[in-house]
Amino acid sequence: MSMSDDLKAIEERVQEGLGSATSLADLERIRVAALGKKGSVTALMHMMGKVPPEERPAMGKLANAVRANVDAAIKERKVQLAKEALERRIASEAVDVTLPGRRLSPGTQHLINQIREEAEDIFCGLGYTVEDGPFVETTYYNFTALNAPEDHPSRSAKDTFYVVDNAPEGKEAHVLGESDVLLRTQTSGVQVHVMEEKKPPIYMVCPGTVFRPDTPDANHLPQFTQMEGLVVDEGITFGDLKGTLDYFTREMFGKDRATRYRPHFFPFTEPSCEVDVSCGVCHGKGCRFCKGTGWLEILGCGMVDPNVFGYVGIDPEKYSGFAFGIGLERVAALRYDLPDLRMLMTGDMRFLKQF
Ligand code: DAH
Repeated sequence: MSMSDDLKAIEERVQEGLGSATSLADLERIRVAALGKKGSVTALMHMMGKVPPEERPAMGKLANAVRANVDAAIKERKVQLAKEALERRIASEAVDVTLPGRRLSPGTQHLINQIREEAEDIFCGLGYTVEDGPFVETTYYNFTALNAPEDHPSRSAKDTFYVVDNAPEGKEAHVLGESDVLLRTQTSGVQVHVMEEKKPPIYMVCPGTVFRPDTPDANHLPQFTQMEGLVVDEGITFGDLKGTLDYFTREMFGKDRATRYRPHFFPFTEPSCEVDVSCGVCHGKGCRFCKGTGWLEILGCGMVDPNVFGYVGIDPEKYSGFAFGIGLERVAALRYDLPDLRMLMTGDMRFLKQF
């Protein structure tokens, strides 16, 4: 066989090999076998010296042509393999344009925040400011300056979360029990902060989280939300208190819900009362939700005790005022007839998405 036959045979073998190649690795193997240092075309080129001189130019030309053809064929097959791979991928990852789109579900504000904002709006409409206060309080603001005697039961560690004293390293940590620092049990302490900072006339509300060591049940949560209110001005009477809170309850619950004022005791107000709203589940007849009474308590209120004015240096001869504390979870429960306050804490989207 002549060298030219060998060269043609190599080209044919390469073409055959390329036809059955399925990967880039196959192509590389074919290229090395033909054009590599020890490849068949290279080997033939090395034998060019043995070709009779008159045939050498033609043979050289043929060898170069074969090498160029093999090179081009490999490159062409490479492009083809890449195209096939792409087509396979497109087929396997095909988009089904008939499928429904994925909907983004925008969140909603938590019901308690909606109620809080609505209550703020009602009082802002009456000219009140919205104040803020600390969650971690001292006993002075949470109890003492609110006229709570030293032995008031709400001060006990059974009714108040006291803050643990983390002792410095090496020293034994101890719980202070009834320490000076606590998680506020009521927003009423903000009354004291505001009266320390501002001079009357004061018309303010302060919404915020409060904490109590209560076991959660249908009507109690260990962490809940109150809205404190305080008015201090000249000539403020119980009539102003009643008119304001009646207006609030009508705005919040509608005109078909009744209110009643029950005498009560709070250390920082005198006289004091609790305000109930008629039960929306049984319409006042009595049911499990209202414990058979037909009424649900939503707030405590009263006329500011002159002793509280004494702590903040406001003259009780010149000024009088009223205060109130509304339980916002209770308000939500009343508005939407929620049978269990725990629903507000569990984060169940089926419940929360309804508001
Ligand atoms: N702080 C009271 C509580 O948590 C609620 C309250 C009652 C607030 C009477 C007041 C008030 O401002 O005047 O039970």
